[in-house]
Formats: sequence, C-alpha cells, structure tokens
Amino acid sequence: MKVEMEEIDDSTICDSVSSLVEGCRLPVHMTGTSDWPLAEIISIKEVQGSKCYYVHYVDFNKRLDEWVTEESLDTRKVHFPRRDGGSNTGVSTPKKVHIGGGGGGGGPVGSVSRPSSPVAGSELVNGSAVLAAALQKRMNRKRKGPSLESEDSQDGPAQLPPGPRQSGSMVSHHDDIVTRMKNIDLIELGKHRIKPWYFAPYPQEMVNLSCIYICEFCLKYRKSRKCLERHLAKCNLRHPPGNEIYRKDTVSFFEIDGRKNKVYAQNLCLLAKLFLDHKTLYYDTDPFLFYVMTIFDSRGFHIVGYFSKEKESTEDYNVACILTMPPYQRKGYGKLLIEFSYELSKFEGKTGSPEKPLSDLGLLSYRSYWAQTILEILISMKPVGDNEKPQITIKYV
Ligand code: ACO
Ligand code: ZN
Repeated sequence: MKVEMEEIDDSTICDSVSSLVEGCRLPVHMTGTSDWPLAEIISIKEVQGSKCYYVHYVDFNKRLDEWVTEESLDTRKVHFPRRDGGSNTGVSTPKKVHIGGGGGGGGPVGSVSRPSSPVAGSELVNGSAVLAAALQKRMNRKRKGPSLESEDSQDGPAQLPPGPRQSGSMVSHHDDIVTRMKNIDLIELGKHRIKPWYFAPYPQEMVNLSCIYICEFCLKYRKSRKCLERHLAKCNLRHPPGNEIYRKDTVSFFEIDGRKNKVYAQNLCLLAKLFLDHKTLYYDTDPFLFYVMTIFDSRGFHIVGYFSKEKESTEDYNVACILTMPPYQRKGYGKLLIEFSYELSKFEGKTGSPEKPLSDLGLLSYRSYWAQTILEILISMKPVGDNEKPQITIKYV
C-alpha cells in the first residue's frame, strides 16, 4: 500500500509567482514596517491584470492580515500546502460563539505607550447613586414583565444577511475562507474614518464599496455619504436609545435592552464584529443588555465604546463583549468600561467576570485593570495598630 506523505513539503525555491497557491507560506513584507515575517496566502485575486494576495502573518493577530502585491512576496523560500489537502496553517477556524462570546487570537501587540487616561476611574463611584436608581428602576420594570415596543422596520432583522447562528454544526470551508478575510475596507462613523480589523456579515451589497457610512447615533448603515445625509435629515437620535444611567463630565453610559431596541442592538453587534475576532453574529439580542459609553459635545452623544451583558448568566459573566472604538483606544476608556461592569455586579451583589476566552487586547486590559485595582487597595491599606504593618489575606474563591 502506498502511503501518502503527510509532511509539509520542504521549502522550495519558487521561480515564478504563478505557481503560488492558497495555503503557501513564505516571507512577506508587512506594510508599514521593514519586516518580512512568515505569512500564509489565504486568497489570490486578479485586479487589472496583476495578482493580489491576501496574507495572514503566521505569528501575528489576524487584524494585520492584508492584501499585498507580488513585490511584497519573497519567493525564495516557499512552503507549499500539504498534498493531502490539509492546511499547514496555524490560523484557527473561527469558533462558533455568540457575538457576546469571548474573543480569541493572541499574537504580538505593539508596546506603544499610551497617553495618560482622561477619565479617572475611581470617580465612577460618585455616580453610583444615579446608577443605583437606574438599576432599581430596571428591576422594577422587569418585575412588571416584558412590554412591547414598536420597531423601525427599516434596517431591521430582515435586512440582515442570513448569518451563521450558534450551533454545533461545522463551518464549511467556503465559510471559513470568507469569514477569515476582512470584507469591509473602511467605515465612516461620525467624524471618524476607521479601517476594520475583521470580517463582519454586513449585507452583500455593502461589501464591495470603498466605504460604509454609519449613522453614529442609531448605527444604521448606508452605501454613500449622500444616502447618509438623507438619513441624518430624518434621524432624530442624538444619543443611543435607552436610558442614560450615568453621567460624569462629558462621559455618559446608556443602558439598552436588546429586546426593546433590537435594531440598534443588532447594528451595534454588526459594527462591533468589525473589531472582534472569533465571534459569530447571533441576531437574537433579546437576552442581552448593552451599556454604551458616549462623550458629549454640542452635536450630541458620540459612541466611544460599549459592553454587552447577559440579563441572566448561569456562569456569572458580567461582560459578554467589550469594545472601545479604535479612535478612542488606549486612552483609558477600556478600563472605565471594565470598571463600570464591576460596579454593576457590585450593585447586584454578585461576583462577575468576563466571558472567556479574552482577546489579546481584552487580556491586556483586564490584567492592567486588576493590577491597578489591587495596587490601589494595597497602597490605601491602613496599619492595624501603632507601628504595625497593614494586614491582608488572600481568599481563594
Ligand atoms: N497594545 C498594548 N497594550 C494595550 C493595547 C495595545 N494595542 N491596547 C490596550 N492596551 C493596554 C493599555 O496599555 C492599558 O494598560 P496600561 O494602563 O497598564 O497601560 C490597558 O490595555 C487598557 O487600556 P485602555 O486604554 O483602558 O483600553 P482601550 O480603551 O484601548 O480598550 C479594549 C481596550 C476594549 C480591549 C480595546 O482594545 C478593544 O476594543 N479591542 C478590540 C475588541 C476586543 O478585543 N475586546 C475584548 C474582547 S474580550 C471580551 O469581549 C470579553
Ligand atoms: Zn440615524
């Protein structure tokens, strides 16, 4: 019996790029750097007679994946894909989890230092009376039972593509390749133009555009600036829907019920998916609350970030998904979102933790939040008696 070789073929000198196929691994010039890390070709397309290659840098997070041209490929050392059709990729298939589910990834993250935080985390406690009142109101409402609210049919679930749902079924190969590639070039959100990091299941008619225009208040998406202007003339929202439950200076938090504001919640998940990997959109937003953080100016309350939270979590998760919009990242807003999530848990009299696994940036942020929080507690500890050292015990839960 002839045994097929399962080994990855030894690297081969490849004299012509024409022999390159999807699955090949080779050094590729990473745009904006002088590095040539090992990358895998995910897809090849021809644009005006010349080939473009969508590459994933093997040891890096997927958000760095990009289209490159021939000149960026070092064809002197190519690993061809395995002959058995298997992939030699180290890239994992996106896990089928709820949009609320944990991120994945991992890979080097630049260690750029960030400017000091504009938001003093500890000040959150000052607003806890307001927060408590709002939460009490919510609990009272909950006791009364669900109430119906009319939904704006436009941009509603019907317009959303029949995306994958949480299920035990396997993701097909086609799905895999599709969802592994960024499908939106650019979004415009208020005054920001943002380059997406990952795939998001926007409807097909939105994906081949140079930019998607998103209303920063209701999060509906449009194909062109003209269409958005028409929308803005009609859109009365100047803040997220739901109740403003916290305000300190220009920062506010709005609580949005995924059942009452389904269209908003779905559009928020869709937008968030552009920056969250290893997530599968799940259109049933009913079981979730969304806490949207905004900053206020004369034009309105602009979305900075959000976290979602299951109304009832059997695992005591207090955050399903957390995101700071890229223009606002590394300014301390992530830690403020995290702090707010723990304040909610404290108010509920519960312990809580975020859904796992965390993304690479999620892990950095939570570690940093806890390092800071624990240090603050240690520093502020009072000695028990004269000349005595502060005493502390660690309780394992
Ligand atoms: N590289 C290195 N360190 C970083 C980076 C980065 N790119 N981004 C944040 N950090 C560190 C910061 O240095 C800071 O630590 P420090 O204060 O000790 O310096 C810490 O993480 C938090 O920084 P913030 O400015 O408070 O956080 P930010 O507003 O940037 O938000 C967040 C963090 C929400 C994780 C953001 O990066 C994001 O939205 N990422 C994309 C979505 C995502 O991955 N979400 C988490 C998924 S896990 C889950 O949902 C449960
Ligand atoms: Zn709008």
